[in-house]
Amino acid sequence: MIVLGIETSCDETAAAVVTDARLIRASLVLSQLEQHRPFGGVVPEIAARTHLDHLDRLVREALAQAHVGFDELDGIAATGGPGLIGGVIVGVTMGKALALARDRPFVAVNHLEGHALTCRLTDDVSFPYLLLLVSGGHSQLLAVEGVGRYARLGTTIDDAVGEAFDKVAKMLGLGFPGGPAVETAALDGDPVRFDLPRPLRGRPGADFSFSGLKTAVRLAAESLPPGAFAPGDLADLAASFQAAVGDVLADRTAHAIALFRARHPAAHVLVVAGGVAANAALRARLGEVAAAHDMRLVAPPPRLCTDNAAMIAWAGIERLRLGLTDGLDFAPRPRWPLDPHAEAA
Ligand code: KG4
Ligand code: ZN
Repeated sequence: MIVLGIETSCDETAAAVVTDARLIRASLVLSQLEQHRPFGGVVPEIAARTHLDHLDRLVREALAQAHVGFDELDGIAATGGPGLIGGVIVGVTMGKALALARDRPFVAVNHLEGHALTCRLTDDVSFPYLLLLVSGGHSQLLAVEGVGRYARLGTTIDDAVGEAFDKVAKMLGLGFPGGPAVETAALDGDPVRFDLPRPLRGRPGADFSFSGLKTAVRLAAESLPPGAFAPGDLADLAASFQAAVGDVLADRTAHAIALFRARHPAAHVLVVAGGVAANAALRARLGEVAAAHDMRLVAPPPRLCTDNAAMIAWAGIERLRLGLTDGLDFAPRPRWPLDPHAEAA
């Protein structure tokens, strides 16, 4: 099976060709960073317009790189949500148009399901597994029990982890996008210099909270001498923040492991996915948590943790294998929770 994937839900325009033998034949990601940087964040209108400008070229390039013609495709999968609606409409419309013109099946993929199933493309992980999904818009702990079968064990009650990284980066003048900048700044920093809170640590359940931590970083930054941050202060604050996030993720994940084991006593894989999973320090911390609970940590390579279309093509393959396709009347969804019993967060 060979599937074309299209991803346009945020600020990456991406197209990929993936096979059911778990082979990525092409995966192109065009970052819109430069377009959004002057505004310090993603501007939805600019994102949608930029997807429109580049998507058809990117699809053609992906097919050429994969040496695949439209007629060899077994399906076309496009992100159907959740995300910035203008961008999702661009990708879904392109996917439907190609499916109609070439008489191929169309699959609307939940972006979060793309992140959630990536570990099956990269590491052939079998169900069930515990997933820590940490991105710019989402922080969740989920029991992944099958394609389309997710049980949410915990979620953020305020900010997403990636959002906290982005906001802290802005406060520290580290620019956009924040995650990689904070990680780099933290490399030479002292993680115990600033005494920052670990929200919800030790509390029952597996929910997260990051807004108090973010405020504490702002207060710590304000306590420093006015003017530009000294490089040492900046590094120490970034490292202290990242360590606090690591402690929170470790604690909440440990709680989720207990909840997960109650459902699946023999399961032993912890997966971390989403853009924040690209962070090496956090991956190391989660590796410790997994080891302490006799679990194996699976973390896809960073380029498959941040937004890409290979994960969308793969989720399309998983759905096509089960005979799950979507009609051309599929309506793009700005909100689309993975666990239908839980609200989006
Ligand atoms: O999954 P993703 O690419 O897009 C969403 O679906 O949201 O995640 C983007 C988020 C951003 O908030 C970004 O700052 C964060 O992932 N991120 C990181 C790192 N790389 C990306 N956060 C921490 N450390 C990183 N190295
Ligand atoms: Zn994402």
